Amino acid sequence: MTRSAGPVPAGAPAAPAAPGAASADSHAASARAPRRLLIRTWGCQMNVYDSTRMAELLAPLGYAPTERAEEADMVILNTCHIREKASEKVFSDLGRLRDTKKERQAGGKETIIAVAGCVAQAEGAEITARAPWVDIVLGPQTYHRLPEMVARASRAAGAVIETDFPAEDKFDHLPEARASQGPVAFLTIQEGCDKFCSFCVVPYTRGAEFSRPAAAILAEARALAAGGAREIALLGQNVNAWAGEAPRTGQGASPEGNTWRLARLLRELADIPGVARLRYTTSHPRDMDDDLIAAHGEIPALMPYLHLPVQSGSDRVLAAMNRGHKADLYLRLADRLRAARPDLALTSDFIVGHPGETAADFDATMRLVERVGFAGAYSFKYSARPGTPAASQPGVVPEAEKDARLQTLQALLREQQDGFNRSCVGRTVEVLVTGPGRHPGQIAGRTPWLQPVHALGSGRPGDVVPMHLTAAHPNSLSATLAHEESAAA
Ligand code: SAH
Ligand code: SF4
Ligand code: F3S
Repeated sequence: MTRSAGPVPAGAPAAPAAPGAASADSHAASARAPRRLLIRTWGCQMNVYDSTRMAELLAPLGYAPTERAEEADMVILNTCHIREKASEKVFSDLGRLRDTKKERQAGGKETIIAVAGCVAQAEGAEITARAPWVDIVLGPQTYHRLPEMVARASRAAGAVIETDFPAEDKFDHLPEARASQGPVAFLTIQEGCDKFCSFCVVPYTRGAEFSRPAAAILAEARALAAGGAREIALLGQNVNAWAGEAPRTGQGASPEGNTWRLARLLRELADIPGVARLRYTTSHPRDMDDDLIAAHGEIPALMPYLHLPVQSGSDRVLAAMNRGHKADLYLRLADRLRAARPDLALTSDFIVGHPGETAADFDATMRLVERVGFAGAYSFKYSARPGTPAASQPGVVPEAEKDARLQTLQALLREQQDGFNRSCVGRTVEVLVTGPGRHPGQIAGRTPWLQPVHALGSGRPGDVVPMHLTAAHPNSLSATLAHEESAAA
């Protein structure tokens, strides 16, 4: 991985934001004996969002967050299946949790262990066979039933397994009021994927594409803004494929008819008081429509940053991957987006060593990277996933070759990222203050391009303040508060 900021690399442990951000409903909690909930989150931002929602669901049962397994009455592992390594981590974590559960049991305390997320969806039966101390296995589309599952798990002898794709919409069953998420919040607007890229498990673990209605999204965004969110990141496995039912009242009679596309939704969200910044992730090149490209030049709240995975620069490999477009489409999109918003930073995802990838194909990827110039990227060695078409495609690339290609690609991506960060030094930019910095007297924030920033001084989380960027480090920028400079001058 070569990114310093931006999306959680799918498959890596997600930032601890999810468990930490989960705040219990204090009234409900105080009515019952206090219980502790530990949620560990891997994978993409959608898993981070789901973890937050699970914590909100369990808060009325008296579960307050903890970071320590020993004091947790319930542990949820929210898992990722995207690459082999990500899946393996679940089983090693479960091994350690068996010991913790035994130790707590010896002290007269029960522990409910739940496995959620995409590994649960894909390998539910294997989990209960390999780890019979697991009490609950639940897929990403059933977590709204968690309180009921907890009740059943407390009574039942065997594990409670819920990995169907239910007919009801889980979002209709989640609490409407959102706990405060701080200045930066995620909001899932679209879920699932119908694209079936050769290598990818997501269509199987998350199910078919589904877009939430605009009214529900706008209501959730208003609740987040009321709770202090200044920056909202819209989430979806193919977020720019979002096509949601327009609100029935108000602007329902829009030129687009009863269905809105993402650009229209972004325009409405930008009008919500308190919402200063909008982002959306992850997009597919095929779904970048004209209005969305134009929106980047027209909506000031839409940050000049876009994560647009391309995976490969070779048309042959893109076809084998079933991506449904050629490299040229990506190059044209990059040009059009930059024409609409000249300071747009592009980031991407790459896979090296997909079955059939030759040295010439890999060269084509290097040329695409040189031509586009990325502010950051995630890059991965192809990992065969059971049940996906690529897993049985010929032309397996030897591990050593994959390693070599990954190193070559990452060196170039790192150079581009460093260059981008250095090019920001000397500029004064708006920084969203997210909280205190790592060192005393510091505040931390993020730039419009999602770079972490630290500066000496004070500021309230949620404030957007001008800062003068003074130095670039591998994973962050240093800054001084612009108004303090002018006050001193
Ligand atoms: N919906 C997004 C990506 C979701 S998965 C898209 O269409 O691009 C996040 C990233 O994980 C992908 O972009 C891809 O680069 C990587 N990935 C997915 N499956 C993989 C596999 N089998 N091996 C290696 N990397 C993979
Ligand atoms: Fe996976 Fe492709 Fe769907 Fe992205 S578009 S989630 S890579 S199948
Ligand atoms: Fe991983 Fe599932 Fe997200 S497989 S990347 S947690 S959709």
